[in-house]
Amino acid sequence: MGKQSDSWGSRTGVILAMAGNAVGLGNFLRFPVQAVQNGGGAFIIPYLVCFVLMGIPLLFTEWSIGRFGGRHGNHSTPYILDSMSRSSWWKYIGVFGIFTNVAVVAYYTYIESWTFIYVIHTLLGTFTQMSQADVSGFFVHYVNLSGSNFGIPFLPVLVYVLVLGINIYILSTGLGGIEKVAKIGMPLLILFGAVLAFKGWTMGAENASPSFPDANAWDGINFLWTPQYSSLLDPKVWLAAAGQIFFTLSVGMGSIQCYASYLKENEDLALNSLTSGFTNELVEIVLGSAIVIPIAAGFLGLDWVIENAGFGMAFQTMPYLFVQWGEVFGAIAGICWFGLLFFAGITSSLAMGTPWMGFMQDEFGWGKAKGALSFGVLALVMGLPTILFYQYGYFDEYDYWAGTVSLVVFALLEMILFTWVFGMDKGWSELNRGADIRIPVAYKWIMKYITPILLLLVLTAALITPQGNDWAGAIAGLVNGEGWELDSGSLISKVSHEELKLHLINDPENALLY
Ligand code: PHE
Ligand code: NA
Repeated sequence: MGKQSDSWGSRTGVILAMAGNAVGLGNFLRFPVQAVQNGGGAFIIPYLVCFVLMGIPLLFTEWSIGRFGGRHGNHSTPYILDSMSRSSWWKYIGVFGIFTNVAVVAYYTYIESWTFIYVIHTLLGTFTQMSQADVSGFFVHYVNLSGSNFGIPFLPVLVYVLVLGINIYILSTGLGGIEKVAKIGMPLLILFGAVLAFKGWTMGAENASPSFPDANAWDGINFLWTPQYSSLLDPKVWLAAAGQIFFTLSVGMGSIQCYASYLKENEDLALNSLTSGFTNELVEIVLGSAIVIPIAAGFLGLDWVIENAGFGMAFQTMPYLFVQWGEVFGAIAGICWFGLLFFAGITSSLAMGTPWMGFMQDEFGWGKAKGALSFGVLALVMGLPTILFYQYGYFDEYDYWAGTVSLVVFALLEMILFTWVFGMDKGWSELNRGADIRIPVAYKWIMKYITPILLLLVLTAALITPQGNDWAGAIAGLVNGEGWELDSGSLISKVSHEELKLHLINDPENALLY
C-alpha cells in the first residue's frame, strides 16, 4: 500500500477546503427551491432542527472516522470502516462512500460546466438583446444539445469535458492544489454573493416588471423568513429538510471522511468541524436565500416564484433579469452569479474526486496523477449518458438515487458503526482528542440515540410515502380500513415502476407569462 501520506498545509487551509467542500451548488440552487416548495418560513424550523440533530452529529462522526482512518494510513471508507470493527462486511458498506461521490460528481460537474459557459456568455453579452423567452429557450436548447452554440455541435459535451479536465488537473496536484483553489474561490464566492445579496435586500419594488406591477423583493424575503408552525407535523417538509441538510453539508457521502483522513493525529476536530459546518449554514441561510428568490420576486412577484420555483430559474430567468439592470451592472451581476456558482461548484466537485483517489491509493498504491485521471475517466463514463439523454429526465431519477437515497442509507449505517459497533465511549474520546472546544455532553446521547432514530424515521417515511404525500389522509385510511396507498414518489413505488419527470420549464414560449 502506498502510504506516503499527504496532509493539509495549515488550519486555515483545512477549514477553507472543508467549507469549500460543503458550500456548493446546493446552497444557491437547491436550498432556495426546497425552501419555496416547502412553504418558505414553514421549511426553516425543521431545517434548523435537522441541522442540530442530524447535521452536526454526522459532521462529528465523519470527521472522527476520517481522522481515525488517516492515523492508520487509510484514506477511503472501505478501508477506514473495515479498521473500525471486526466484522468484514463493513468494508463493502464503505464502497458507498466512493461510489456515491463518483455518481454525483458526474452530473454535478455538468451543472458546473453550465455555470462556466454562462460566465463566458455574460462576458460576450449574449443575453443583452434577448427576450425572456429567448433566454429561457437558449438554456433548453443548450441542455438538449440542439442549439447552435457558436456553431459548434455538441458544445455542452465539450465544455463538460473541459471542466472535468480542470478538476482532474487540480486533483493531480494534490491537497495543496485543492487548498489553493479554496483560498481563492471561497473569498471570491462570498464577495460575489454579498454583491448580489445586497441587491436582493435593497431592491424592493423598484424593478417590478410592467406585467407584474405588484412585484416586490421583500415579499420573497418575508415569505422565507416568517416562521409557520403548522408545518411541524408534516413529514413531507421534514423529509425535504433532512435531505437538504445532508446534501448541503456533504454528509453521507464519504468525502468528509476522506478530507479528514489527511488531518494530523491530534488535530482539533470539534472546532474545525463546527466552523466549516456553520460557514456552510451561514452562506446558505444568508446568501442562498437572499439572491434568487428576492430578485425573482422583485421583478415577477412572489406568486410567480412560488409557481415556477425550480432548478431552471438560475439559468432560464436570472440572465434576463440581470440585463434589466442595465449594461454595466447587469454584466457585473451576471458574472457575480455564474462566477459564484462556478467557485461553489468546483470546490465541491474536487471534494467528490478525492475518495476515489484515496481508494486507489489504499488499494493499489496509485499516485495522484493516475488517481485523478482514472477518476476523470470514470466520471465521464457515468456522466455522458445523463448528458446525452438529458431531455428524457434521466437526470432527476439519477439525482434521486445517487444524491438522496444513498446518502441517508450510508449515513445511518456509519452512525451505527461509530456509536454502537466502534462504541460511543471510544468514539467520544476520539472526537474530543485534541479538541479546542468542549462539546456539550448532550451530544454523546444525541449521537447514540436521537440521530440514528431520526435517520431511521426519514428512511421509513421515504419508503412508504403515501399517495399525494397526504399523511393525515393515509393514517385515517388505515384506521377506517381503506388501506395505505403509496405515492408514486415513495421508494417502494420507485423500485417497482418508474415515472420520469422533467422539472424544467421546457416550453420557452410560456416560460414567462407575459
Ligand atoms: N455540499 C455540496 C453542495 O451543497 C455538495 C456535495 C455533496 C459536495 C457531497 C461534496 C460531497 O452543493
Ligand atoms: Na452546501
